[in-house]
Amino acid sequence: MKAIALPHTEILAEIIEPLLTWYRAQSEERALPWRGTEDPYRVWLSEIMLQQTRATAVVPYYERFLAALPTIEALAAVDEETLMKLWQGLGYYSRARNLKRAAEAIVAEHGGRLPRDHKVLLSLPGIGPYTDAAIASIAFGLPLPAVDGNVLRVVCRVLESSADIADTAVRRAIADALAPHYPEGKDAGDLNQAFMDLGATVCLPNGAPHCPRCPLQRLCLAHASGTEGTLPIKSRAKARRIEERTILRLEQGNAIAIQKRPKKGLLAGLWELPSLPGKKTREEVEAHIKEQGLLPAQITELPTAKHIFSHVEWHMTAYRVQLQEKAPAVAEAAPYTWATPKALATTYSIPSAFSYFL
Ligand code: ADE
Ligand code: SF4
Repeated sequence: MKAIALPHTEILAEIIEPLLTWYRAQSEERALPWRGTEDPYRVWLSEIMLQQTRATAVVPYYERFLAALPTIEALAAVDEETLMKLWQGLGYYSRARNLKRAAEAIVAEHGGRLPRDHKVLLSLPGIGPYTDAAIASIAFGLPLPAVDGNVLRVVCRVLESSADIADTAVRRAIADALAPHYPEGKDAGDLNQAFMDLGATVCLPNGAPHCPRCPLQRLCLAHASGTEGTLPIKSRAKARRIEERTILRLEQGNAIAIQKRPKKGLLAGLWELPSLPGKKTREEVEAHIKEQGLLPAQITELPTAKHIFSHVEWHMTAYRVQLQEKAPAVAEAAPYTWATPKALATTYSIPSAFSYFL
């Protein structure tokens, strides 16, 4: 294991108090519904939803989810379709599946309560080192730094470190450097949330942070030498793969054709509009439809759309295919399910990648 040397780590002892004081003063303005609760279920749910998703986008999902599934037992017992519907639009759907799997394990093995031991938390589906530390500190007061991009950015700037934050060894070094300074009890969770808030509202990424409003300004080495705009250093991630797809909006009366995606891979097990690989012409689409024993009455090209996932971009060509109303065998035409607008709104969860064509 490569050792990473961080400069000036003695400063970290001094940032704790100003961060906590600042957090207490400003947290009323950033009133988030999961703040002010130590209920481990709520803390856990909020931290999972907040992975890769902004706090303001999470708020309505969080409240609706808790209203539908108020306890870990309810979550463990929920059916897949309801779960996906509650998650629809948040993205990264494996988070929802992992939540349910973890809830089942908590009910079966931990008496329905989230375990207080952070190593056990870490063993649950969907809980990695960051989420583990966030839950353990906020719900149980354990002194563990939750190191996400915000913490990496703030710490690299304060220490004026040009370490590459894409390197997991740097993440570990920063966690190790912070850990001895972490308080126990309520302050542990407050400190982690102080870092999150500072990163989200003051020590902003991509260019200019709002240093005049920052509680760490007096201590911050990057600010002192004017390098805050160029830190932290992050090596480029691999470029996303581009995938051309042709999406079909097959209409039979007011119902459209949907099907389940494969159990593994991108958007696993979710409903989708049928599609073909590549960029197909109207003629190719017509031939494909006829091969399936369906009779197209009219085929219209729809505007193209692009959807960005973490590792892939879909570049989508799309066609609206209106089928002849009384076509034989439409009902049996495999592998489709015919969904009315009402069923789409209440029953089936279709991921945002298809929303351009719904
Ligand atoms: N991002 C991740 N966890 C968070 C929290 N508890 N509050 C605000 N933003 C967060
Ligand atoms: Fe970030 Fe500026 Fe605060 Fe330093 S002084 S931590 S660069 S906002």
